[in-house]
Amino acid sequence: MHMAQARSDALVFFGATGDLAHKKIFPALQAMVRRGSLNVPVIGVAKAGWTLDQLKARAQDGLRRYGGVNAAAWEKLSSLLRYVDGDYSDAATFEAVKKELGGAKHPAHYLAIPPALFDEVVRQLVQSGAADGARIIVEKPFGHDLASAQKLNQILLAAFPESSIFRIDHYLAKGPVQNMVSFRFSNAFLEPVWNRDYVDSVQITMAEDFGVQGRGAFYDATGAVRDVVQNHLFQIMCNLCMESPARKDSESVRDEKVKVLKAISPIAPEHLVRGQFQGYLDEKGVSPDSQVETYAALCLEIQSWRWQGVPFFLRAGKSLPVTCTEVIVRFRKPPITKATESGIEHNYLRFRISPDMTIAIAVSVAPPDLAGHREVAELVASHHAQPDEMEAYERVLTDAMAGDPTIFARQDYVEEAWRIVDDALQSPPPVTVYEVHTWGPPATSYTTPPGGWIEPQVSSSTLPEK
Ligand code: BG6
Repeated sequence: MHMAQARSDALVFFGATGDLAHKKIFPALQAMVRRGSLNVPVIGVAKAGWTLDQLKARAQDGLRRYGGVNAAAWEKLSSLLRYVDGDYSDAATFEAVKKELGGAKHPAHYLAIPPALFDEVVRQLVQSGAADGARIIVEKPFGHDLASAQKLNQILLAAFPESSIFRIDHYLAKGPVQNMVSFRFSNAFLEPVWNRDYVDSVQITMAEDFGVQGRGAFYDATGAVRDVVQNHLFQIMCNLCMESPARKDSESVRDEKVKVLKAISPIAPEHLVRGQFQGYLDEKGVSPDSQVETYAALCLEIQSWRWQGVPFFLRAGKSLPVTCTEVIVRFRKPPITKATESGIEHNYLRFRISPDMTIAIAVSVAPPDLAGHREVAELVASHHAQPDEMEAYERVLTDAMAGDPTIFARQDYVEEAWRIVDDALQSPPPVTVYEVHTWGPPATSYTTPPGGWIEPQVSSSTLPEK
């Protein structure tokens, strides 16, 4: 069987005692067991001085907090779990991993660890033979800038072919993000207006009403642009703007996405606004004079036949008034004639990605009182997540272990994404402090969409049930 299609016959995850494993990986593994898609050894690796029982207790705690324990699935997962405690620079750690792998021929190695450790871990995997026939799974942000991303790619590509490298951006695995593509290409009415002739501007907002949640040290080395804009928001933008792929195989889809990024010029520093929420400097792990942004807003243009001249406004921030990710595609106004006169608003299409999945089309309607005025009404299709729907981390791990790279970032995509933000990050504009639970610092004329930002309206009924 060709490696690209072989199912992984073991999962090794480095960083097993860390935050990501606790919050996302264990719940995803339990869900995979429940669905029947995980039945191979799962080997956690970390340097914590722990035993397997301690790892199991931590896993159970993660399950309790983030989704709940399913007794039968946990029992099964618990029987699959192994633990190797050791230093990543010690060959003995990797010998122990190799031993736990037993006869596995196609293990998947998931690096849920800081990128600074990749070099060493990959080297040790190769030396121990654990890299033979294996896949490697890594997390975003992939590098810190274009140069470091290229270096990381060199490290990985020296040991694994591109088809065995899975770079996670969990936004791509979200149902509503995938659904944007399906909605675009399965509805005939959209295509004729989905271009510069009809679209006036696009806004993408990723708002979070919480701060850095104990991840101060990670966040302070990262900032909003690197944490979510150049990956999550760019992926959303690509789904919104790409051409229909010629075929549905992973490379045809990924080719179209990278073309979107290739058509974007580097963002000038004056097209970026950076903010920092009040109190950020008191967070654990944050440098007392940090200039790192917890809010970013920027404007860019896709210089393609379809999109040239349409401004795209992207913003993301922590400690904003609501938690919501939403896209607004605003259409040009119809002509104002002597018959229609004034009072006509822009149509827009709204894709909500979280907390609920909504697609809404805003239209002008005339109420039946014949008074001549018009109102904007939204035609809405919405969906609330059901308990057995796949969460993003279950999807990425399932696809990586099955060898399907469609929803993972390819090397050229990652490098293009860095190229776009690199200049602005190298000489960044100053950060402006904003009050917690406000919409960030004042926008500049460059970062204000025509008509202003549309603030997402999140009612308590759209919040997922606890
Ligand atoms: C992560 C970022 O990638 O995405 C976090 O590091 C952010 O800062 C998170 O909060 C948001 O993901 P989700 O799936 O909760 O919207």
